[in-house]
Amino acid sequence: MSFALPSLLYDYAALEPHIDALTMQIHHTKHHGTYINNLNGAIQGEHGGSLKGLSLEAICRNVNSAPEAVRTTVRNNSGGHWNHTFFWTIMAPSGTAASAPSGALKNAIESQFGSVDSFKDQFNKAAAGRFGSGWAWLCMNQNKQLFITSTPNQDNPLMSGIAEKPGLPILGLDVWEHAYYLKYQNRRPEYIAAWWNVVNWDTVAKYYDEASSGKAPVLDVPLQ
Ligand SMILES: [Fe+2]
Repeated sequence: MSFALPSLLYDYAALEPHIDALTMQIHHTKHHGTYINNLNGAIQGEHGGSLKGLSLEAICRNVNSAPEAVRTTVRNNSGGHWNHTFFWTIMAPSGTAASAPSGALKNAIESQFGSVDSFKDQFNKAAAGRFGSGWAWLCMNQNKQLFITSTPNQDNPLMSGIAEKPGLPILGLDVWEHAYYLKYQNRRPEYIAAWWNVVNWDTVAKYYDEASSGKAPVLDVPLQ
């Protein structure tokens, strides 16, 4: 069984004007698709035997145990597949999902960061401040506390022994230039500000509940 590109739950143009259709199409079919092809190639190649049959989450969690000959490839491309699959699920067209956190998630954000606005400010700083390519994350740690972190390239907080601050992701933002350059060019902070308009807080709340039970996000899309 190979990993396959999951369909989006909305059209490429559905996140306009905040994220443009051409960016979404290229990002999904070309960038995400390439990570999947490269991951499948590593697993099916001569060094990939021990990875066959593992879930995408298990591969990410245990990247440091992957055979050395393919470890970097597996790190970059399992992360690329998991991160993008997660990212598509935490966005929705404006007006089709909760536009702000509520309930237990809102309480947790306020308790940890003071207010939702203060949380967004700190998250924006992490996203804007990530040098080069990478991701900003809201995660839950083992003590059930929320924290903000960022990772370079396609690393993610599930990657044991790699992530500087490991945890269970609740929310994540792709700040690679491929995610915004066609519309925003070098204006990453504008992209970050616009992105909040398409965050699907219903799905983020689901991931918060799963993290509260000790589970990584259950990505409700077929991965294989
Ligand atoms: Fe990306």
